[in-house]
Amino acid sequence: VSGLAKLAKAAGKKYFGTATDNPELNDAPYVEKLGDLHDFNQITPGNSMKWDATEPSRGNFQFANADVIVNLARKNKQILRGHTCVWHSQLPQWVTAGNFTKSALQEIVKTHTRKVVSHFKGKIWDVVNEPFNDDGTFRESVFYTTIGPEYIAIALKAARKADPHAKLYINDYNIDGPGAKSDAMYNLVKSLKEQGVPIDGIGVQAHLIAGIVPDSFQANLERFASLGVDVALTELDIRFTLPPTPAKLEQQRRDYQNVIAACKAVKRCVGVTIWDWTDKYSWIPSVFPDQGAALPWDEGFVKKPAYDGIANGWFL
Ligand code: G3I
Repeated sequence: VSGLAKLAKAAGKKYFGTATDNPELNDAPYVEKLGDLHDFNQITPGNSMKWDATEPSRGNFQFANADVIVNLARKNKQILRGHTCVWHSQLPQWVTAGNFTKSALQEIVKTHTRKVVSHFKGKIWDVVNEPFNDDGTFRESVFYTTIGPEYIAIALKAARKADPHAKLYINDYNIDGPGAKSDAMYNLVKSLKEQGVPIDGIGVQAHLIAGIVPDSFQANLERFASLGVDVALTELDIRFTLPPTPAKLEQQRRDYQNVIAACKAVKRCVGVTIWDWTDKYSWIPSVFPDQGAALPWDEGFVKKPAYDGIANGWFL
């Protein structure tokens, strides 16, 4: 067996996949590799299912760009993760500055989630994205400040109603090791389960830094899974300060291997998604200008040591 997705499946996982984005689909060699089922049997749209893309003004639902990616996944026979229904970022002004009452915003959250989830049936969904601050308190998004923490349950229930077969996740970053934010996610999902709110999984984004991946990464996944939910690594990348050197690439290879081995070892870790597969289209340099080279293929689509790290993580 060779190929990252084939190896993931041989390790008992559902998928190994990658994010992608509509502008990248004009790059023919990129698209060809994206469709390689040996390496990727899952894709996530990086931007085109977000609120600003799907409901830019109230009640005006736009699915053309998202449909392009869903149709590509279908053509390639790849699983699709929907990303994301309710998030504080890439949220249009009409929502953030709408000054809605609590009940009005509840209806808006319900309608948005229902419309988006029912347009794309049978998917895995990051229904709620990034609800927490790093200190484990709730992020003061317009949803939290207007509705309170119950906006999360409202969105999850609307998603379940819209598509009983969809898998519903809450997704966040900096929940890779123990700490206040991981505890907050654990406690939230525990309380949602106790209340009977539909929740199928915890998405661990896993935007990591080479050399400082938490030792307890696996134990942390295990703890989430012990709540009786699936876990997935949803946006994996491992960045370092540029330029690449053999030592940094080797560190990155080891880190990828350890992270993948952790998912392999945790029964309910169902799959891994990297946040695009080539450094050419990574989000990192636009946000951390001195950093990058976070993905397993370089800008020229040449495999890096990280590729072997992932393969070994699934295999060894
Ligand atoms: O669409 C506009 C385009 O019209 C304009 O010309 C161009 C000029 O900068 O910007 C385009 O929008 C950009 C958008 O990506 C689409 O390319 C935004 O500026 C840019 O900020 C946006 O970045 C995305 C980022 O989320 C925004 O928060 C990244 O591509 C996307 O990879 C990234 O993904 C997030 C996950 O959704 C959640 N977790 C963290 C992860 C990394 O930030």
